[in-house]
Amino acid sequence: MATTLGFDVYGTLIDTNGVLTALKRLVGDKALAFSQTWRDKQLEYSFRRGLMQNYQTFAVCTSQALDYICDFHRVSLTDEQKAELLSIYRVLPAFSDVQEGLSQLKEAGFRLYAFSNGKADALELLLNSAGVRDLFLGVVSVDDIKVFKPSPATYGHFLRQARATGGSAWLISSNPFDVIGAISAGMKAAWVKRYPEAIFDPWGIEPTTIVKSLVELREQITKCESVLE
Ligand code: 2OP
Repeated sequence: MATTLGFDVYGTLIDTNGVLTALKRLVGDKALAFSQTWRDKQLEYSFRRGLMQNYQTFAVCTSQALDYICDFHRVSLTDEQKAELLSIYRVLPAFSDVQEGLSQLKEAGFRLYAFSNGKADALELLLNSAGVRDLFLGVVSVDDIKVFKPSPATYGHFLRQARATGGSAWLISSNPFDVIGAISAGMKAAWVKRYPEAIFDPWGIEPTTIVKSLVELREQITKCESVLE
């Protein structure tokens, strides 16, 4: 069977800093710190909810993280301003390498899926507005099983939905927690090191390969698979 690639969405395909323009208008020079801490708190909430087995959708984690970050940065936003930010979050832009990188992989015969904490309807909207939905065979959401990444159950769910096995499937993600989770669940994983300063967790579990851009993936994965055969 052709190799299956599951692409993480937020931070890998989609630039979560895409809200910076609106944030600069609303919070001024705090915008970058606000955006980064918002992302960190959104993920923290998903981890905590997973551990507590107190699932709410990723959109709830995003919204509640926004409320927290306003207090953290001592910024008072109106409900309308928060609603504006959350509506922008639903249609964030793709990174500039995504269209070309995915097209190359599709033409090379790889089976491409989006695989995310987001709800399926939110992912469909996001990927369609980013203009890349048609490159995927399907969209797999952890919302089906009400558990967040990096629970092993989510990678098992992905493999079942994509009709793949761990040995014939890769996770592609810019999030080290996701890469470590996928490898620990028996998949191969490519870390997309989108920023030079990005740090991979020192857990002794390394990515199968590291790329700076999706356009490096076709060569890197082909090379890894020929070595691993
Ligand atoms: C995802 O899209 C949270 O970036 C992670 O699942």
